[in-house]
Amino acid sequence: MEKKTYYITTPIYYPSANLHIGNTYTTVAADAIARFKRLTGFEVMFLTGSDEHGQKIQRIAEEKGVTPKAYVDEIVAGIKDLWKLMDISYDKFIRTTDEYHKEAVQKMVTQLFDQGDIYKGAYEGWYCTPDESFWTETQLVDGKCPDCGRAVERTKEEAYFFKMSKYADRLIEYIEAHPHFIQPESRKNEMLNNFLRPGLQDLCISRSTFSWGIPLEFDPKHVIYVWIDALSNYITALGYGQQDNEMFKKFWPADVHLVGKDILRFHTIYWPIMLMALELPLPKQVFGHGWLLSDSGKMSKSKGNIVDPIVLVNHFGVDAVRYFLLRGIPFGSDGLFSNEIFIKKINSDLANDLGNLVSRTVAMIEKYFDGVIQPPTAKEEIDNELISLALNLPKEVERAIEDLRIPEALDKIWDLVGRSNKYIDETTPWILAKDEEKKERLGTVLYNLSESLRFVAVILTAFLPQTSEKIVEQLNIEVTSWDSIASFDGTRAGSKVKKGEVMFPRIDVEAKLEELDKLRQTLVVENIKPTMEPLKKEITIEDFEKIDLRVVKVISCEPVKGAKKLLKLKVDLGGEERQVISGVAQYYKPEELVGKFLIIVANLKPVTLRGELSQGMIIAAANEDENKLMAVTIVGELPTGSGVR
Ligand code: ME8
Repeated sequence: MEKKTYYITTPIYYPSANLHIGNTYTTVAADAIARFKRLTGFEVMFLTGSDEHGQKIQRIAEEKGVTPKAYVDEIVAGIKDLWKLMDISYDKFIRTTDEYHKEAVQKMVTQLFDQGDIYKGAYEGWYCTPDESFWTETQLVDGKCPDCGRAVERTKEEAYFFKMSKYADRLIEYIEAHPHFIQPESRKNEMLNNFLRPGLQDLCISRSTFSWGIPLEFDPKHVIYVWIDALSNYITALGYGQQDNEMFKKFWPADVHLVGKDILRFHTIYWPIMLMALELPLPKQVFGHGWLLSDSGKMSKSKGNIVDPIVLVNHFGVDAVRYFLLRGIPFGSDGLFSNEIFIKKINSDLANDLGNLVSRTVAMIEKYFDGVIQPPTAKEEIDNELISLALNLPKEVERAIEDLRIPEALDKIWDLVGRSNKYIDETTPWILAKDEEKKERLGTVLYNLSESLRFVAVILTAFLPQTSEKIVEQLNIEVTSWDSIASFDGTRAGSKVKKGEVMFPRIDVEAKLEELDKLRQTLVVENIKPTMEPLKKEITIEDFEKIDLRVVKVISCEPVKGAKKLLKLKVDLGGEERQVISGVAQYYKPEELVGKFLIIVANLKPVTLRGELSQGMIIAAANEDENKLMAVTIVGELPTGSGVR
């Protein structure tokens, strides 16, 4: 019989920085699922890779004075090393700079052009370079990217567009008819209500103001928009659009694209529409997981609050990190990472619960039977609960993974670990050992514990492969197939256990936190300098002179009702009173501004914000993430209305 197939993907990562545990999270989760599917008999294709084109990468390379290719080659080598360290069992690593990918993407886009789904026009709007995403004026939030809150750039260029709007109704129908397509459920509603139902705009799919990308075959001055290039990886990696497309036939449609919630929109709107236009089946599911947060919010390179997985692995071992990511974060929601939470979880679940169970079991077999496992000939009623929990475990874990409830799969495994520890307390082997007549019963108790640990070890090959291997070695387990845990008798009586190193030494929390502190190796890397916002396009002195900057004095200031971020300022401009609405409420209390001399753009067309007229804009300095902002003032006093140049 042919094996069932399973195709799982992670996002392909931007080689713009070393990856942090936020990105590592997606890949570790995908790896656990891929390993579990292999264990349970599927032929698995697990794809990951790197997303190497686009304006962002071109700029970074320019800043470093190297070619984009030289830059990405170095970073991609680092990404691969990280996956090796994290025991990621990917089957294929795609790079979007690979020739086969570039050719296949060109062909796809040409096909869409030839069939009339792509047309030429001009793009005018906003662009978020860090996210590589287009936004219209109305979509911006306080003039910033609505996804990541960073500065956007005004973009105006000749471009090609994809008729997304033509497919929008079909996609809405598809999503409604396939309730599992977008998971978790709440994300599905967000996509439908926020993006699809209000009406889809056609998507700009080419850029002509920089060159680092795949050129359009039919107009090589343009490079293909990086998200079109990147999303295609899921099929080009399988040989789509190439001579040998056996893998494509075998594995497409994907069973699941695992992505972070921030990029769900690209995967559940653009990507399905591209596939519809190519007349290809859609992936069976797109799962958007939550974010890893640190005390200061979403972990991200630009915030400088990232945790380096390599530092973590060096201190605690790879399985400790995998364990925390898989069980410590509710899958599908955001989860908090802090050194303390991490270390405490490792101590309680790995050192205390699992580590102890293994070392106690092995130690007792060594002490009472010279390390030889005895046959289970003296069964008692009390064993049944343990045995039936073990026998139910494979199905329970299978069901949880089927729905991608990864932490629950681990909860189930730890139920058996906990039950086994309790079984030791109930059966009190050290008391049985005192009575020669109870020797057979003692042998049976230890057999049951070994067998229970065999179940744990077999299932853990998917989640904590190195730990599983250590248990297999210490207990000298001979059968580790999935089928072998359908019955509670796979441990071979007569085989000899071998005590090994302590799997998870208990960590002294205070000392470790202090040590890391002293070494200046706090796992939260705090002082990474945020990158400066890219400079805007050059302007002439005439352009600048169009802007009329003036000194004003704040007469009064109050909050705007119902708008948390806004303040209403009355200012004096050369004897004329003006009202200015400004988004500075998070940074200044109204009374702090009264009496201050500020600078405003005095000839800005008035607008109404939250029903209030704003006749000008206050000039303020802010860092890229806008968590710090300071209004610009003058040193000394000048008559209000004085010009600023
Ligand atoms: O988006 N917690 O790449 P990327 C959890 N190249 N996940 C996080 C996270 C955090 N703190 N920070 C980032 C891209 N991620 C594109 C993908 S796919 C065709 C192209 C996740 O390197 C994020 O949600 O910026 C995303 O799923 C992944 O890391 C890659 O981010």
